[in-house]
Amino acid sequence: MEKSHRLDGARAAIVVASDSGARGERADTSGGWLAERLRLLGADVLDLRVVPDDVDSLRQALVACCDELGADLVFTCGGTGFTQRDVTPEATLGVVERLVPGIPEAMRAASLAITPMAMLSRGVAGIRGKSLILNLPGSPKAVQENVEVVLPILPHAVETLRSYTGVNCAR
Ligand code: MTE
Repeated sequence: MEKSHRLDGARAAIVVASDSGARGERADTSGGWLAERLRLLGADVLDLRVVPDDVDSLRQALVACCDELGADLVFTCGGTGFTQRDVTPEATLGVVERLVPGIPEAMRAASLAITPMAMLSRGVAGIRGKSLILNLPGSPKAVQENVEVVLPILPHAVETLRSYTGVNCAR
């Protein structure tokens, strides 16, 4: 089972949205856990950065991961809830060219079997160039539960995106 989830050669980046984390007041555990999980599956984790919960900082980090680092997969952790500072979906929507609704649909559906609080995550997923950006909620528990849902589809997603030339898509 695990074998088919291998991410050998996939280039991943992680953006943790956290005001207190960016100020150095709180240690990041979600991003670190995710980086380790991805490395164990064979992915090359290019970057793990903690940025404040504001749209510009998040957009900048996402664009850098996609366009400068060339990440196949960009995971965000946190900032998908209802507080005024939860703006990760808005930042993501500002930089992607194509939405992938099935990913957040699947994550919420699976998460609802664990907690009704899953309804409170507004996370989205979308494609920028050859990069797939996926929003995950922020708590370590939620990151683990949500990322396990998407692992089976990631190898095919990366493979497909790498062959994408963008000819049909204005950019
Ligand atoms: N999904 C799973 N699988 N497990 C969880 O514990 N927590 C929820 C939800 N999704 C949770 C989850 C809660 S409590 C919130 S507020 C939202 O994710 C948004 O989290 P965020 O603001 O950290 O992104």
